[in-house]
Amino acid sequence: MAVLPIHKYFVFNNEIRQTENFIPGENEGGIYEVLRVVNGIPLFLKDHLERFYNSAQLSEKSIRFSENQIHTFLKNLIENNEVEIGNVLISYKINLKIFFIQHSYPTTEMYRDGVFCGILKAEREKPNAKVFQTSVRQRADKMLKENGFYEVLLTDQFDHISEGSRSNVFFVSDKELVTSPGSKVLLGITRQKTILLARELNIPVIEHELKISELKHFDAAFITGTSPKILPISKIDGFSFNPKNDIVRQLMKRYEDLIVAYLKLQSG
Ligand code: PDD
Repeated sequence: MAVLPIHKYFVFNNEIRQTENFIPGENEGGIYEVLRVVNGIPLFLKDHLERFYNSAQLSEKSIRFSENQIHTFLKNLIENNEVEIGNVLISYKINLKIFFIQHSYPTTEMYRDGVFCGILKAEREKPNAKVFQTSVRQRADKMLKENGFYEVLLTDQFDHISEGSRSNVFFVSDKELVTSPGSKVLLGITRQKTILLARELNIPVIEHELKISELKHFDAAFITGTSPKILPISKIDGFSFNPKNDIVRQLMKRYEDLIVAYLKLQSG
């Protein structure tokens, strides 16, 4: 699956090159990160780089550039392209490639009313590693396109929900959150921040696998991820959820505040 750069420049190992000279290559099995750039600042960069090196270790790869080098390349990429907002892909297979990719963020209506999600029986091979696994992505993308879903939630052979095809998922009942255990999913940066914010609000977070049939016990659900941030779900298959749930709204607000505080700290 070719992922293509947008804007004028991309990073190839330690060089900055013109996008028109980009040669699409085979990514399968390569490791990657997608991070969000806001006001020209890469959001939660340290967390993303930590996960990048961790994915390399889990895939028995060693990245021949240091964290500081990647930080510098990324800074050069953002400055050369003169871009304030968007998503950046950092990928490594044989070469390090860093570039802006097309992004799509939820609309105001989606944040207000919630989104529809489907269910897809599919498992990611090493859940904790962020590795290009084209087959799952292609099946997910086909379902999104054919059904107009915002996201599809992956289920295993026992019908347990693990995560979204590119997000993590939380369910809200009474006064607690339930999400799949860390060992079964990609340890999303947004998931991690959401768990911390919930703790600050004294909302218990239970890591437990849920079956589709158990969804009827929950008032609300939401996905978390780099592009969606915290996005309420209104429907999963035949199950409806309340996008206005108070806990979901509190977390959405706290997450926005966290981003603002991060940007302030980085620019100050
Ligand atoms: N995906 N689970 C999976 C399988 C993912 O691919 C992603 C992110 C997440 C959420 O992680 P984070 O909060 O760190 O974005 C969970 C990226 C954005 C992608 O592949 O495009």
